[in-house]
Amino acid sequence: MSLATPKPELDLSVFRFAERMGRLKASAIREILKVTEMPDVISFAGGLPAPELFPVTEFAQACQEVLAHDGPAALQYSVTEGYPPLRRWVCDYLARTSHIEANPDQILIISGSQQGLDLVGKVLLDPGDLVIIENPAYLGAIQAFDAYQADYLNVETDDEGMRTDDLVRVLGAARRKPKLLYLVPNFQNPSGITLSLQRRKAVISIAAEHGIPIFEDDPYGRLRYSHEPIPSLMSLAGGRGCVYMSTVSKIMAPGMRVAWLVIPERALYEKAVPAKQAADLHTSSFTQRVVYAFARAPGALEAHIAGMLPVYARRRDLMLRALERYMPPGCSWTRPDGGLFLWARVPESIDTQDLLAHASGKKVAFVPGAPFWVNRDVRNTMRLNFSNASDDMIVEGIRRLSDLVKAALK
Ligand SMILES: Cc1ncc(COP(=O)(O)O)c(C=O)c1O
Repeated sequence: MSLATPKPELDLSVFRFAERMGRLKASAIREILKVTEMPDVISFAGGLPAPELFPVTEFAQACQEVLAHDGPAALQYSVTEGYPPLRRWVCDYLARTSHIEANPDQILIISGSQQGLDLVGKVLLDPGDLVIIENPAYLGAIQAFDAYQADYLNVETDDEGMRTDDLVRVLGAARRKPKLLYLVPNFQNPSGITLSLQRRKAVISIAAEHGIPIFEDDPYGRLRYSHEPIPSLMSLAGGRGCVYMSTVSKIMAPGMRVAWLVIPERALYEKAVPAKQAADLHTSSFTQRVVYAFARAPGALEAHIAGMLPVYARRRDLMLRALERYMPPGCSWTRPDGGLFLWARVPESIDTQDLLAHASGKKVAFVPGAPFWVNRDVRNTMRLNFSNASDDMIVEGIRRLSDLVKAALK
């Protein structure tokens, strides 16, 4: 006897979804990535680092070393907080690179920053709670907080990042006290914009005045190609009222799924640990050790990052020059000092979602900006990734994209 598949219209499913799932949509980016897998497509869509820069040989050696020295312990269950030597290394690294003074008890190793967004949401947000975010904002954060049925207060941004005058306005108009202020201060995803020092100080003082914690998400801080680094909000605030997060995804490889939260406030740390335990017990014992084995070798990580920076800087410059050369009048774009993205604006008559529908014919892909905007219907923006395509492909891809924009303007 074969089991009959029930006809979908008969609604015989025994599965009744949780209310929170109503808010969760498949990420627009994941959908676009399907197009980018088509042959010959030049993709500026994903947030993908350049695979040819991954430290494959060094990781092969690190894997051998971990298995030879740690053997079964590297393959065993472990503590939720993370591999202690890696937590100590994170403290040294943060002190050296971001002036963040943390101790290992404040470090929670997580399975990618994306998990950190989920955990902070899980620990802090009840349905209807307000989160302040930049506009446009990182889509993955919206997705993570959506799962906890958060509502958003969107603060406008300009060339210096979150506009603090708008932050004050938004807070003045808020009917409830927001639970969290989330931002990506360095080379933001999607805009590529960096929050200026003056604004960082202002954000800290406004948040402190209103008693709102800051969640600083910093995956791109080390990928700086021009101008001087700006201190983290965590270091400027002396850790008070802040949670800081970074990851190996952009400085080593995203497939490792190793990242860290810095949580100075003990009560919050003690909530985050069981929240993570419930999610995945702990981040892979093996990959934590491999990351540590690579990172602890004197100079290895710094040499690796130093090798990546000129490649990404060149690709950024190529993209900027190609945009300058090919894009029609009425278009503008950001000029990021680092990171992986820039953000382009085309004339208002063009909906970049529609433009993408024609883009596969031209074999070029980008991410339409609309999903990054919160509580605002902005249709004429797009995110362009410059790290993943080769030099030639960048120039050719921007030429194709510009042809599409010109055709849409006719
Ligand atoms: C701002 C931001 N936060 C978090 C993430 C997730 O990174 P991870 O690979 O560490 O999960 C990304 C990835 O692109 C990102 O851009």
